[in-house]
Amino acid sequence: MTEIAHMTEADAANRLMRLAREIAKHNRLYHNDDAPEISDAAFDTLMQENAAIEAAFPQLIRVDSPSRLVGHAVSSPLAKLPHAKPMLSLGNAFADEDVADFIASIRRFLRLSDDEGVALTAEPKIDGLSCSLRYEHGALVLAATRGDGAVGEDVTANVRHIADIPQHLPDTAPPVFEIRGEVYMAKADFLALNAQQAARGGKIFANPRNAAAGSLRQKDAKVTAARPLRFLAHGWGEVSSLPADTQYGVMQAIATWGVPVDQRLVRLVGGDAVLAHYRAIEAERADLPFDIDGVVYKVDRLDWQERLGFVARAPRWAIAHKFPAEQAQTNLLSIDVQVGRTGKLTPVARLEPVTVGGVVVSNATLHNPDEIARLGVRPGDRVVLQRAGDVIPQIVTNLTRDVPRAPWAFPDHCPECGSEAVAEEGEVDVRCTGGLICPAQRIERLKHFVSRGALDIEGLGEKSISEFFEAGLIRSPADIFRLHRHRAAILGREGWQEKSVDNLIAAIEAKRNPAPERFLFGLGIRHVGQVTAKDLVKAFGTVERVAEVATREDGALELTGIDGIGPVVAEALREFFHEPHNRAAWDDLLSEVSPPAFVSNVRASPVSGKIVVFTGSLETMSRDEAKAQAESLGAKVSGSVSAKTDLVVAGPGAGSKLKKASELGVTVMDEAGWHALVGETTQ
Ligand code: IVH
Repeated sequence: MTEIAHMTEADAANRLMRLAREIAKHNRLYHNDDAPEISDAAFDTLMQENAAIEAAFPQLIRVDSPSRLVGHAVSSPLAKLPHAKPMLSLGNAFADEDVADFIASIRRFLRLSDDEGVALTAEPKIDGLSCSLRYEHGALVLAATRGDGAVGEDVTANVRHIADIPQHLPDTAPPVFEIRGEVYMAKADFLALNAQQAARGGKIFANPRNAAAGSLRQKDAKVTAARPLRFLAHGWGEVSSLPADTQYGVMQAIATWGVPVDQRLVRLVGGDAVLAHYRAIEAERADLPFDIDGVVYKVDRLDWQERLGFVARAPRWAIAHKFPAEQAQTNLLSIDVQVGRTGKLTPVARLEPVTVGGVVVSNATLHNPDEIARLGVRPGDRVVLQRAGDVIPQIVTNLTRDVPRAPWAFPDHCPECGSEAVAEEGEVDVRCTGGLICPAQRIERLKHFVSRGALDIEGLGEKSISEFFEAGLIRSPADIFRLHRHRAAILGREGWQEKSVDNLIAAIEAKRNPAPERFLFGLGIRHVGQVTAKDLVKAFGTVERVAEVATREDGALELTGIDGIGPVVAEALREFFHEPHNRAAWDDLLSEVSPPAFVSNVRASPVSGKIVVFTGSLETMSRDEAKAQAESLGAKVSGSVSAKTDLVVAGPGAGSKLKKASELGVTVMDEAGWHALVGETTQ
């Protein structure tokens, strides 16, 4: 091994790559196969070498760096596995009109003529957990849960015990084929498992879905083997080729390879046929052997799926038509008030436990004083609860509203720190005015800072934050990066061993150069969500520049000049950076961490960064499709032509915009020219 002090950047990158591979291999052998090949001490040496090189070359820290994975071993015993293609979620339809809108939007997007029908597949939406199975040259090589959609958990060893999942595909299957589907537990198996668990004093599962997740996500695959898990395919991920050009055709091919596909999968054309099918499945629901919560529709033609693409994390070509929410009655025992990160007081109803839609519910949020007034709820009332899908349970009505009882008074002081609690003008929410004096707000901000969308410090979850806060070891975000000084104090605490403390400290060290958008989002500034944080660092380059502009007297003007940033965000930023406590915490934090300048991940293309205007009628695509395509190539699409415009794509019938473009000397091309320009980059 070359000594770190003498390493060139290339040596270091090379060594980090090798370490990432080697450590991942040993992680898998240890965690998944229960068959380690090296001692713990030898493993630790590899980890330390990795950490030392990363400390010397922070710019080379890999996305799959083992230092980012170690914490995972603490919070979840399963290793992480990045998906070759993201695992998406689905948009929801509740009413019949939502389905009609879905079909209409597809027609509009694709600019279909009236006589062209949209064939959709329809199949039950199974209440399980999604899983991606990767087959290479016919052999099952990897299996992963969905995780956050980009990175899942490695459950390869576990799925080998699911009888529905074949270890091999026939020779007719393409060399690389990822089958995606749902791991679930049948209703009868779930009841039998719970009875068995009760007899043994084991964990009782709330519903089949939880039982399936708890059974699959096991470090010890032998536990999975003892559980009655099943699998139904509903799609695919990365593939070297496809056996058909329709959704229906590919699913049929998958079925012929011996992978279960639900027999209720059908292909339908037209809103009426789709709704009739939905009603038929709904009528069958109670008698099905497994829980379902709706029907999923997918555009059948794969070339159309391709064109339709995605919005945020869901495809435009699929939707889940959910069954109506299930309701139940129960008694409201008391109302507690929780204090959130921004000081918001949230009343929470504590309920007599009741089962709604297969889940035992004992809490429901009451949101704010308006909601309390709307329902007129007081402890002692009988209420109707509703739960739809994964949505948190809601109280819909108060059945004993007319029974005379004193109204419940919303607190005018923070229950955590005693500071005054007030509603700002025009706002329904009541907030604690204690700011960082309030321990609840401080803890919540710290939890937010380390959360998934922010710094994502593995192994430092909500529980550990509370623990270290109470113990006085972490009082501010910067303290997290000084936690290594308290090694002895942590080791003296229950549940912490040498290895888990080392992992935690390594996970923290790996975050000394966080992506600027994550860092900014992690500060928990009001109205600055992930998208806004990214817009800000994209526009200003660094977090320091954002703070500088936000602090300047005339900063609001510059801030609101950015796309997506309005006066509310500008004011929230100004307020945050003018607050002395925040300023001190910011300076302190930046003495520990250095977020680099923003790096865009949009592909370079001939139109990236360009301002494009589409005008006149387009022939091969709709406006929406054109816009989506341009934006995915990094262009900004504008509705009007100005001196800033880089390119005008004009179709037949173009009028004033085309005229203005030629007056201003802006480049103009027709639709074919546009395709030729971007075609080169999409090949
Ligand atoms: S298709 C890109 N089909 O529902 C399309 N999903 O709410 C992705 N699910 O994560 C999914 N049954 O776990 C699809 N027949 C079905 C499904 C189904 C259940 C789950 C799946 C997905 C979630 C989205």
